[in-house]
Amino acid sequence: MTSSARSFVVRQTRLRPVPGLEEIRLHLADEVLPLWHDVQVETDDPDAPLPYWAFAWGGGLAIARYLREHPEAVAGRRVFDLASGSGLCAIAAMHAGAAEATGADIDPFAAAAIWLNGRANGCRVAVVHRDVLDDEPPDTDVVLAGDCWYEAGLAERVLPWLRRARDRGIDVVVGDPGRRYLPLGELVELAAYEVRTTTELEDMERKRAWVYALRPSGTGR
Ligand SMILES: C[S@@+](CC[C@H](N)C(=O)[O-])C[C@H]1O[C@@H](n2cnc3c(N)ncnc32)[C@H](O)[C@@H]1O
Repeated sequence: MTSSARSFVVRQTRLRPVPGLEEIRLHLADEVLPLWHDVQVETDDPDAPLPYWAFAWGGGLAIARYLREHPEAVAGRRVFDLASGSGLCAIAAMHAGAAEATGADIDPFAAAAIWLNGRANGCRVAVVHRDVLDDEPPDTDVVLAGDCWYEAGLAERVLPWLRRARDRGIDVVVGDPGRRYLPLGELVELAAYEVRTTTELEDMERKRAWVYALRPSGTGR
């Protein structure tokens, strides 16, 4: 993560409370398209990814709400937040008493945002900036996967990785607002929430989003 990525995140966002989770403050943007354009200019890359890191997504919001209600899911444990974006789930885990939290994302601005947002919330979140889906799951107790099922390519890679994590005894917690590639048959519902997002990202400001565990291996639907 470079200091120029950090200053770009600070310049392009405003630090403010997350709707419905006011105890967490994130560097958030209001509009996605102008920011995406600025990312393309900043990186000189017309194919730069959407600035996911500048928004709290439905899946992450649901996980954060779940951890506030069920701190025992992470308290005293090591937490790995896959596809961390803003770092929201990792920060919620630290607030819930996690022993340590790591946020992993492939986007350099996400890496910067995770670090900045962790600091803004008074918690230390370690940052992994690489594609961990090519690695074995890390040595951790809980994996959080917020809003990872929005595109086929990622969904195809995330599921086998999460299964491997589960088969190693790691608790897997998935949060999702009903995206197209969500593998419902592999999930057990833990909770449902109405979350407040933005019409910049979704078709409506309030969405239902669910929290799931990964079904134990060898069990049917
Ligand atoms: C929709 S956002 C969700 C962010 C956050 N979990 C939340 O719910 O607010 C998806 C994130 O996945 C990240 N991502 C995409 N492919 C990835 C990969 N192979 N490994 C890690 N992160 C990835 C993107 O950069 C983006 O930040």
